[in-house]
Amino acid sequence: MLKRGDKLGLEYIDLYLIHWPVKGKYKETWKALETLYKEKKVKAIGVSNFQIHHLEDLMKDAEIKPMVNQVELHPLLCQSELRDFCRNQDIQIEAWSPLAQGELLENAALKEIAQKYSKSVAQVILRWDLQNGIVTIPKSIKEHRIIENADVFDFELSSEDMDKISSLNENRRVGPDPDNFDF
Ligand SMILES: NC(=O)c1ccc[n+]([C@@H]2O[C@H](COP(=O)([O-])OP(=O)(O)OC[C@H]3O[C@@H](n4cnc5c(N)ncnc54)[C@H](OP(=O)(O)O)[C@@H]3O)[C@@H](O)[C@H]2O)c1
Repeated sequence: MLKRGDKLGLEYIDLYLIHWPVKGKYKETWKALETLYKEKKVKAIGVSNFQIHHLEDLMKDAEIKPMVNQVELHPLLCQSELRDFCRNQDIQIEAWSPLAQGELLENAALKEIAQKYSKSVAQVILRWDLQNGIVTIPKSIKEHRIIENADVFDFELSSEDMDKISSLNENRRVGPDPDNFDF
């Protein structure tokens, strides 16, 4: 007889997230995640695309606080308020579409910074994530870019360059807005 988990072929899962804050559903789903966590089937549980008000609402009834919130985040969408809130609540922010799906790679200000450190624009953005304490998950189907995106531990951006990158913020999304999303 198949036991739970057998289909995945895993004894446990590292991280399990609620993908979107679907109204009327996420609290019940969170209870199921809490159960899996207590049963030690999942090492960490979290959410994705939750705004501050979703997190506040979820935490009103939650036994366990979300450990991660995976949201769209890049220099065009710095998410400062959400990051402050999550830092205060000890929720790890994770950036999806950290390269704005490629949109930022030709940005002149980023190109100038990249040249200064002899790095690529992608590496500069990913380093900005790390220095901000953000877990980042760039995607590439090309081996050389996967290697390039992981090669960000041999340089450090100055605080002036960190601020320059943050000043590119336009509160602009390349993906859906969690408050106006047709679930
Ligand atoms: N939780 C959510 O709701 C949610 C929503 C969207 C995305 N995500 C996740 O976030 C991850 C990344 O997001 P994403 O794929 O939307 O955007 P992204 O990582 O910002 O950008 C990916 C694009 O950038 C290109 N790229 C990657 N590295 C590069 C480099 N070093 N130089 C030049 N171009 C490079 C890729 O092309 P090539 O592949 O051709 O290299 C691809 O076109 C994915 O794993 C996805 O599953 C989560």
